[in-house]
Amino acid sequence: MEKTLVLVKPDGVQRGLIGEIIRRLEQRGLKLIAAKFIWVSKELAEKHYAIHKDKPFYDGLIEYITSAPVMAMVWSGPNAVAAVRQTMGATRPTEAAPGSVRHDFGLEIGRNLTHASDSVENGEKETALWFRPEELVEWNRALDSWIFEQ
Ligand code: RTP
Ligand code: MG
Repeated sequence: MEKTLVLVKPDGVQRGLIGEIIRRLEQRGLKLIAAKFIWVSKELAEKHYAIHKDKPFYDGLIEYITSAPVMAMVWSGPNAVAAVRQTMGATRPTEAAPGSVRHDFGLEIGRNLTHASDSVENGEKETALWFRPEELVEWNRALDSWIFEQ
């Protein structure tokens, strides 16, 4: 089953939105398979955002993601990567679809509340970066067959 890493970033944590964001993902039918509440080290932040190293916003991004704790989670399901990106909305909150997390709670790109993996490959890579294999919980959800066709 496809996996995607979701972070409730420091602004989401400070604003008390962990529950709201989890609620939306659960309501959508996605399945939680790992979670931890951590203060991200500079080292992990730099690895996670390595792709943005040369961007002008990089230093601010590292400062932002390490400025308070984050809620890190892995969610699974059919098309989990696309589904979670859609639930979160476009990177820039003023371009995010109404009803998405970033639209409903955000205004600025540098305070856009969440992270979600942007491809199936990155879902796997980011899961491995943030979680040890034994931290991933395999479980049967009673409702699975009413939400997942296969
Ligand atoms: P994310 O990785 O956090 O899920 O967001 P994303 O894929 O929608 O956006 P991405 O291009 O990967 O950018 C990562 C994060 O960097 C910050 N950002 N700031 N000031 C800027 O122009 C700018 N551009 C990106 C955002 O916090 C974005 O989520
Ligand atoms: Mg990204």
